Amino acid sequence: MKHITHTHTHTHRHLLAPIALPALPALIALLALAPLPAFSAPAAPHLQKTGAATQLIVDGSPYLILGGELHNSSSTSRDYMAPHWKRLADANLNTVLAAVPWDVIEPAEGTYDFTMVDDLLAGARAVNLRLVLLWFGSWKNGLSHYAPAWVKADTARFPRALTTTGTPEILSVFSDANRDADARAFAALMRHVREKDSGQNTVIMVQVENEVGLHGDSRDRSAIATAALANPVPAGLITYLQKNRDTLATPLRNLWRDAGFKTAGSWTDILGASPAAEEAFMAWHYARYIDAVTAAGKKEYDLPMFVNAWIVQPSDEWPGEYPAGGPQAHVLDLWRAAAPHVDLFTPDVYLPAFAKICAEYARPGDGFFVPESFAGEAGAANALTAIGRFRGLGYSPFGIETRLTDPIAKDPLARVYALLRQLAPRILEQQTKPAGEGIMAISLDPQNPDERFTLGGYDMRAALFTGWGSRGTPPERAYGLIIAAGPGEFYAIGANLQITFATKDASTDTIGLAAVEEGVFDASGKWTRGRALNGDEIMLSYDFPVQLSQRQTGTGLRFNSTAPSIMRVKLYRYPQAK
Ligand code: DGJ
Repeated sequence: MKHITHTHTHTHRHLLAPIALPALPALIALLALAPLPAFSAPAAPHLQKTGAATQLIVDGSPYLILGGELHNSSSTSRDYMAPHWKRLADANLNTVLAAVPWDVIEPAEGTYDFTMVDDLLAGARAVNLRLVLLWFGSWKNGLSHYAPAWVKADTARFPRALTTTGTPEILSVFSDANRDADARAFAALMRHVREKDSGQNTVIMVQVENEVGLHGDSRDRSAIATAALANPVPAGLITYLQKNRDTLATPLRNLWRDAGFKTAGSWTDILGASPAAEEAFMAWHYARYIDAVTAAGKKEYDLPMFVNAWIVQPSDEWPGEYPAGGPQAHVLDLWRAAAPHVDLFTPDVYLPAFAKICAEYARPGDGFFVPESFAGEAGAANALTAIGRFRGLGYSPFGIETRLTDPIAKDPLARVYALLRQLAPRILEQQTKPAGEGIMAISLDPQNPDERFTLGGYDMRAALFTGWGSRGTPPERAYGLIIAAGPGEFYAIGANLQITFATKDASTDTIGLAAVEEGVFDASGKWTRGRALNGDEIMLSYDFPVQLSQRQTGTGLRFNSTAPSIMRVKLYRYPQAK
């Protein structure tokens, strides 16, 4: 079962171990007088739904992942990683996503070597970073390059998929032997993580496989796959289709509709015969396989687990040009029906339409996370969008150890992470509020130069900074975040941005700035004011005929720099007399 809210307690079996024998009689006497105190380690990291957000709970509190994913091979070498850990912590990350390759941990069948996992734990703990482990098992980017050699070489026992153009290095999803070998190894990994990390919670989440799906064809054409296509569609899927008939993703619903909304029959009977129907068939089977692997891992150590998706690219015309059967948005229904142990389906976003893709995955009530995307300025904007607009668990750009710029203090993502760290308790609290309350993120560029939204009862307009004193050419990118702090009071982060305020209702009132200050939150969470901002620092326009006709004061929040900062603003309202 998928666990959204649960707690674990682990007894400390070693508690009595250090007590020397002669002390035992005295201890027994003491125990007779006093009840044994209940020792329990912090609960394992888990997901918890609170209001509008599903959040990751670590050490008993909501946790915001300010992450970065290492390059694929980095995690396998302690020496390679040695210089990177501190740099990642210095860039204000709190979490590193690191691959655990199957071939490295199970070089011979049943013989495990977890040295690299222990090295990751030590490296991360030394600089107070948490880890999200990425299980590179049967598939990585759809391919089976991370299966151990004893699996790769034994094609009779561990069959490959077959496509119209040949046999790629892709394990067939239709083989129980493939699935069980993967599940055994993943379970061993999770057992090791529990033994080494339960109670310390360095590992906070796990990704199962990586960007799965078949390359080069819409379905596996091996004999076992062809036999499976003729099997009856499982009752579980039929029930899901019936229950969710009105909310199914349109392409899936259309397949079912065009085949006559049948409720019994083979895959071809239920969804027809087309590349899209074959893709759906593959999605179900990938999801069932990965659900079994996930369940085996959770049985050993029940951490939140997610599956990441290779996103369909604009040039892709058919399933197979992108990995067919992976958790792409249009087949997520099949994944949801088939993989109840998987907690989250997450997009790897390497396209500019970041918010559009997030929206396809951030279903209200489900948790949301972006495990791979851009670093740099785009990353800074995306991190705010994932966290502030889609109430995500966090954000993580790919290839982090080579994507941070020097000096690190000026890296755009490191700068935004520094501010998100300070604001994290407030962000996590305000994420739980319904849309339009609590929190909003802004990401703008010349194609999308401004945005209007409502927050905490105010109409707000965020725009590329073009205010008074600007150089006239709008910036290429602006981003920000605004968080409710009390009635008419907000914290905001911004870079290259201006924000103005108006009444939400149709009253004639104008919203002015009662006070604006910049500042920082110290480690204890106390706000320390920097400059009290006024005068030129709040002025956007002296064009009063225009400003007053729009019930504006000419003032607003000016984030006229690429270096983002935190401002606190208190608003007031006054009537416009004409
Ligand atoms: C997406 C994959 O999930 C990553 O492992 C990596 O291969 C990147 N693509 C490369 O950009």
